[in-house]
Amino acid sequence: MRGAGIKVIGAVKTFGGLRALDGVDVEIRPATISLLVGPNGSGKTTLINVISGVLKPDAGKILLNDRDITGLHPHEIYRAGVLRTWQIPQPFLRMSVLENVLVADGSHPGEGPISFILRRTRWIRYEEESVRRAYEFLRQVRLDHLWDAEASKLSGGQMKLLEIARALMSGAKVLLLDEPAAGVNPALAEEIFANLVRIKEGLGVTILIVEHRLEIAMKYTDWCYAMFGGKVIAEGKPEAVLADTRVIESYLGG
Ligand SMILES: Nc1ncnc2c1ncn2[C@@H]1O[C@H](COP(=O)(O)OP(=O)(O)O)[C@@H](O)[C@H]1O
Ligand SMILES: [Mg+2]
Repeated sequence: MRGAGIKVIGAVKTFGGLRALDGVDVEIRPATISLLVGPNGSGKTTLINVISGVLKPDAGKILLNDRDITGLHPHEIYRAGVLRTWQIPQPFLRMSVLENVLVADGSHPGEGPISFILRRTRWIRYEEESVRRAYEFLRQVRLDHLWDAEASKLSGGQMKLLEIARALMSGAKVLLLDEPAAGVNPALAEEIFANLVRIKEGLGVTILIVEHRLEIAMKYTDWCYAMFGGKVIAEGKPEAVLADTRVIESYLGG
């Protein structure tokens, strides 16, 4: 499924009396990078939780292409190819970079990566095709030259790139990324976003990002949604959205 789109239609999520999502409509086009911005508490994480199935909306629908995925279990949504980065298991630090991608292989039905690795240990002869795919995903994130390095040797930023390669190996069509460049230096943040563009263009993956480093993120973004008070208050090209008076005011406290 190259180019999966996500539609959120009239999503409502309340916590007690609080409307964390107050009728959110979002249409994410296939093979695009979208940026979700807004001040703290505006509903960004709740929206990602509702799309990934971690939370069920009180009302509204979530569509993956034309398939209604509203209320499915998170693992069913994961299998459908919609993936939140923290759903990916932590890397195995003692294993090589390539092995870490191999164990994330989503094409081993009925077997999670953990049981897969526990039952067969590292001498396993992976199928040639799996190795080819894993290597290709490492190439996409520019970690191919480190394929044989122990994962523990990677820098924090390289770990993030490895996480993305593992998400691709597990069959991600839609990636939901919560601050993919948090805590890394600006040069590496640029590199992470450049990688995401390559993944979008090369593999047709659809990417939704929550990121606070707007000055970096916006350059790599096709479409931007600004949230405030559980609503999408503006959407469009990132330069236009971030210059929108309502959006600026929402950051100043509404
Ligand atoms: N599990 C929860 N229980 C109660 N309130 C929550 C919960 N999750 C989020 N909220 C509230 O919902 C609102 C939106 O939160 P959130 O989606 O985390 O915002 P953002 O990610 O934009 O900072 C906030 O007021 C937050 O306090
Ligand atoms: Mg949040």
